[in-house]
Amino acid sequence: MKIGVLGAGSMGSGIAQVAAQAGHQVVLVDKNEEQLANAKSKLAKVMARLVEKAKLTADEAEAIQARIMYGSNMANFKGCGMVIEAIVENLAIKQQVFAELEGLLDQDAILASNTSSLSIASIAASCKNAERVIGVHFFNPAPLMPLVEIIPAVQTSAKILAETKAMVDSWKKVTVVAKDTPGFIVNRVARPFYGEALKIYEEGVADFATIDWAMTALGGFRMGPFTLMDYIGNDINYTVTETVFTAFYFDPRYRPSFTQKRHAEAGWFGRKSGRGYYDYAEDAVKAEPNKNEVLGNQILKRILVLLINEAIDAVFLNIASAKDVDLAMTKGVNYPKGLLAWANEIGLANVLSALDELYDEYRDDKYRASVLLRRMVKAGESFEL
Ligand code: NAI
Repeated sequence: MKIGVLGAGSMGSGIAQVAAQAGHQVVLVDKNEEQLANAKSKLAKVMARLVEKAKLTADEAEAIQARIMYGSNMANFKGCGMVIEAIVENLAIKQQVFAELEGLLDQDAILASNTSSLSIASIAASCKNAERVIGVHFFNPAPLMPLVEIIPAVQTSAKILAETKAMVDSWKKVTVVAKDTPGFIVNRVARPFYGEALKIYEEGVADFATIDWAMTALGGFRMGPFTLMDYIGNDINYTVTETVFTAFYFDPRYRPSFTQKRHAEAGWFGRKSGRGYYDYAEDAVKAEPNKNEVLGNQILKRILVLLINEAIDAVFLNIASAKDVDLAMTKGVNYPKGLLAWANEIGLANVLSALDELYDEYRDDKYRASVLLRRMVKAGESFEL
């Protein structure tokens, strides 16, 4: 099947590479010719590196590159069985593009969006045949991150869901099916990793370096929250948080932080601007953590039980299955363990009592335990994964 990718930015060019590596003819379209040229030269560099590392032969690398056709007009998508859109995150523009795409493609072609924050239902609504529209959410960088969230809209047919999942599975990706709700799985469940870390800092419990140390050295997370926010960019991460918060009708569980907002306003985005929570100048003094294990374990426990609570609530509200929630967090954001497996290990009753302690102390709905957690503790159950 010929695959189309619209948008040759960081995501679109990565998705085109994934499909071409899986053997598809790919058509990569961007209205900006310069982006297309960039995507082409970036891919050439990536391929050369893979040949150097003996991950691909020179012939294979050449064949992959030859399978991608670059174009600046959507008419080039004619004959594609599936088109994945990865353009600017703007609903009006995406709707216009989907309405246009529908007219260019065969009746049974799949129309997919890589959106992170828009509802698939609202994109699908721009098409006459909305049942063939679906969300296919890759993680950055797409060729390296195994996870893809597959999001059927209320309008999407079961056939399109099955075909899309089978297609992305055949690209050697780990797929999970998620309900069309804000943040899907990963961007919803991960919120406390940032939000609670920021709150702990704001309360003066510990500084950035200490919180990062607790989560990495004691928790086994690959990156601490502040290092990760600096990597993602405080502008981007803040916007995602605010979008999720608004989309959840201001549920306090997703409340954004002034600390992050001020960092974004100041232009302290993180690595890309040279300064975020940390200073990335060459001569900067490295912030040293306070390696007090009692304090570190308190920090870890507080963030971890909130993450687990989000994961349990996602299962409770049928956002995804328990197995898929755990897969999503380990394969999409590299968590050291699935959060539900972690909950089983700690003991659900212990997770609940830690949450209830926070709730009693703060009297803030942010710390309310999921109904499913309370029910499972009452029934003496644990997760079957
Ligand atoms: P980007 O800004 O790097 O690339 C977007 C590309 O789309 C640009 O090359 C632009 O020229 C092109 N474009 C814009 N409007 C167009 C149109 N009407 N027709 C053709 N081309 C058009 O953006 P990025 O980061 O690749 O994101 C793309 C999408 O993927 C967004 O919906 C974003 O929410 C989503 N996403 C982004 C992730 C990330 O970490 N950057 C992760 C997962 C999803």
